[in-house]
Amino acid sequence: MTVYFPKPGPENTEACIEVALKALKEKDIQHLVVASTYGDTGLKFARALKDEKVNLVVVTHNYGFREPGLIEMKEEIRKELQELGAKVYTGTMVFRGVGSAIRASFHYSEETLIAQTLRIFGQGLKVCVEITLMACDAGLIPPEDVIAVAGTVRGADTVAIIKAMPSNMFFNLKVREILAKPRDW
Ligand SMILES: Cc1cc2nc3c(=O)[nH]c(=O)nc-3n(C[C@H](O)[C@H](O)[C@H](O)COP(=O)(O)O)c2cc1C
Repeated sequence: MTVYFPKPGPENTEACIEVALKALKEKDIQHLVVASTYGDTGLKFARALKDEKVNLVVVTHNYGFREPGLIEMKEEIRKELQELGAKVYTGTMVFRGVGSAIRASFHYSEETLIAQTLRIFGQGLKVCVEITLMACDAGLIPPEDVIAVAGTVRGADTVAIIKAMPSNMFFNLKVREILAKPRDW
């Protein structure tokens, strides 16, 4: 059963935690990947899952997303996440990276086309796919079914079960189940 939220946004984060916890228990999945820009959402998941047997991977923006050399997540938040048992991953964002530079110069990139196509399911689903690719590229999750959680700008509003793949095998990735998403965005 998919949970549909009337609107996107961080007010759906607690409900996404419940959906993800239920899926972890019922579906025998060992890995959860969550997007977190400043760390708030990552911390909420890390606290809720600290007694669960799960590999929690928190994926951030890259350094320089807004300004070269800078990242939104403060170092103390990254440490707190790690102390709670989460792995925090910062790397090249699969649907941005060099594609963003190409788009800025030539007004088009294939990465942007893929991202915009995935966004027809909502911002969160695009991010779920992106962070699953990133975590798999980094070797932090295996190429198996994982739970992916993301949101619209801040917080969480989308939960999906995704068969992870590295980004070079993007078309082999499978969005198996969408457990929660906003109906409108
Ligand atoms: C790698 C990455 C890509 C993201 N891309 C988008 C996006 O395209 N659209 C969007 O609305 N939010 C995007 N987000 C935001 C996340 O889906 C999520 O809402 C946010 O990271 C939660 O951060 P918080 O812990 O600061 O609340 C992205 C976040 C990350 C880490």
